[in-house]
Amino acid sequence: MTAAAATMPSSAAGITRSALDLIGNTPLVALDRVHPGPGRILAKAEFMQPGGSVKDRAARAILLAARADGRLAAGAPVVEMTSGNMGAGLAVACAALGHPLVVTMSAGNSLQRVRMLEALGAEVVRVPQVDGVPGQVTGADVRAAADAAERVATERGGFYIDQFHAPEGVRAHRDTTGPEIWAQSSGRVDAWVAAVGTGATFLGVAAALRARNPSLICAAVEPAGCQPLGGSPVTKHRHLIQGTGYGSVPPHWTAGLMDLSIPVTDAATEEWRRALATREGLHVGYSAAANVAATVALLSSGRLPSDATAVTVLCDTGLKY
Ligand SMILES: Cc1ncc(COP(=O)(O)O)c(C=O)c1O
Repeated sequence: MTAAAATMPSSAAGITRSALDLIGNTPLVALDRVHPGPGRILAKAEFMQPGGSVKDRAARAILLAARADGRLAAGAPVVEMTSGNMGAGLAVACAALGHPLVVTMSAGNSLQRVRMLEALGAEVVRVPQVDGVPGQVTGADVRAAADAAERVATERGGFYIDQFHAPEGVRAHRDTTGPEIWAQSSGRVDAWVAAVGTGATFLGVAAALRARNPSLICAAVEPAGCQPLGGSPVTKHRHLIQGTGYGSVPPHWTAGLMDLSIPVTDAATEEWRRALATREGLHVGYSAAANVAATVALLSSGRLPSDATAVTVLCDTGLKY
C-alpha cells in the first residue's frame, strides 16, 4: 500500500481502501422460489466475498491477529493447507497486506481451484490422495495436506495459519457473521443450519445467535454416512460436500451448540445445487446446496412452527467445481 493510500480515510467519497474491506457484510437472501414453505429460508450470500467464499472472514481475522501480536512480520511468507476456499481468502488478504502465500492442497480437489489460487498469486503444492478419489477428499487426504503444510512452513520459515486450531476463525463468525444475520433478519431467527469443516462458521454464528435467542435450534449438516457430530459411526468417508464432513470432530467443537445433525446425501446435494442455480439464479457450491437441502428437511420436519425463519449459509460460488 502506498503512503497516500494508507492515510486515505476509508469513508472518503464511498471509497473502500482495499479488498480486505470487501470481506463481510454479505446480503441475506430469501430462498422463496425453491422453498415456498413451511417456514422461510434466509441464506447468507458468502459466495459474494472477494475470495468467493465464507472462508475470507477467517483468513482476514487470523492474518490480522498474527500481524497485530507479532507472530507474522511484515512481508513474511504465509503457509496453509486448504481445500481451496481458505487458500483463496488468504490469497486475497495476503495480496492486500503484502505477504507471499504457499498453499498445500489435496490432489482430490478440482484443478479449477489450483488455477484460481495461482491466478491470485499463490504457490500451490498438490499433495497425493491417501484414500479418496478426485472430487471426493477424505479426512486422511486432508491430514496429508496439513502435514505437508507444516513441513513447508518449517522449510521456508513461514507463518503456518493452522485453520483447524486458530481461535480467530470462530471469533470472526461470532463477531461479524452472527451479528449481521441478527440485524438483517430484524432479530427473527428460529434456526441456524450449517455444514462443518473447521466448524468456525457453525460455531461462531451459533454462539452469536444463541446469545440473542436462547431457544434457537442449531443444526449441523453432515454427509449421510459420515456423521461423527451426530454420534454415528462413519460408514462412508467419500462424499460430494467438499470443504466439510471430514469424518472427525473438529478441535474447537462445542457440543452444546448443536441440537441435531442432519444427514444429506450426494443425490440431494446435486438436486439442490441445480435448483438453486436454475430457480434462484444462485450458482453455488456443494456445501451451500447441502445446507439448503438440510434446512428444507428441518422446516418440513414439524419440529418448528410453520412460520419459522431458518437461516443458512451459501458457503461458496459454484464456478470453481
Ligand atoms: C465449500 C466450503 N463449505 C463449507 C466450509 C466450512 O467452513 P468452516 O471451516 O467454517 O466450518 C468450507 C471450509 O473450508 C468450505 O470450503
